[in-house]
Amino acid sequence: KMSAILKQLSQVRVLPILVADDVQQAIRCVATLAENGLSAVEITLRTPNAMNVLAEVVKACPEVCVGAGTILTAQQLIEVQDTGAAFGISPGITPTLAHAAADLGLPYFPGVGGASDLMLALEHGFNVVKLFPSDLVGSTKMAKALGGPFPDVRFCLTGGVTLEATPQLLQQSNVLCVGGSWMCPASLIEANNWAAIAKLAAAAAIAGK
Ligand code: 3PG
Repeated sequence: KMSAILKQLSQVRVLPILVADDVQQAIRCVATLAENGLSAVEITLRTPNAMNVLAEVVKACPEVCVGAGTILTAQQLIEVQDTGAAFGISPGITPTLAHAAADLGLPYFPGVGGASDLMLALEHGFNVVKLFPSDLVGSTKMAKALGGPFPDVRFCLTGGVTLEATPQLLQQSNVLCVGGSWMCPASLIEANNWAAIAKLAAAAAIAGK
């Protein structure tokens, strides 16, 4: 399971991050992203209806690799697995979450901001991590520095990533992918502006090549 997800992320290399509260809008948005080359997505658990949105998108978009983001509790991990989502992501890491994710066997990318977080992740067997907030903790400079003591770790850079920055960020050899919300801003989702989201997605997909 994990290897299939890693293969997909290593091909797409840009992971759109969706904040949505409406099921139909979320399905439409994820379909638009996928039609324009972004076949994996992170749906954040940041809105009141987010878990339901996640479950419905998983059902409606079986061809898309749908993961859950902003996982803060072990209970959320369990609920995420119950939706059938492909993977889970957190902005950080705690011993509780790391234990729970390892027990569940859900493909999981904990968040790290530095070496200590990364060591905790590795203690629990997680060697692909989200570097967050990427722009504030040094993005590729941080990834490169951590690559010294931790050569087998791969990073998903997230937080403040832009279309313009993406090609250069992806050049760092231990960067698996970047994640960002710029392809599906709330303003365009609220306006049901799928044409604009299609353009942003297509540009992001090209930046990932
Ligand atoms: C996240 O959930 O990782 C962040 O919201 C993504 O950061 P961005 O909104 O700056 O792309």
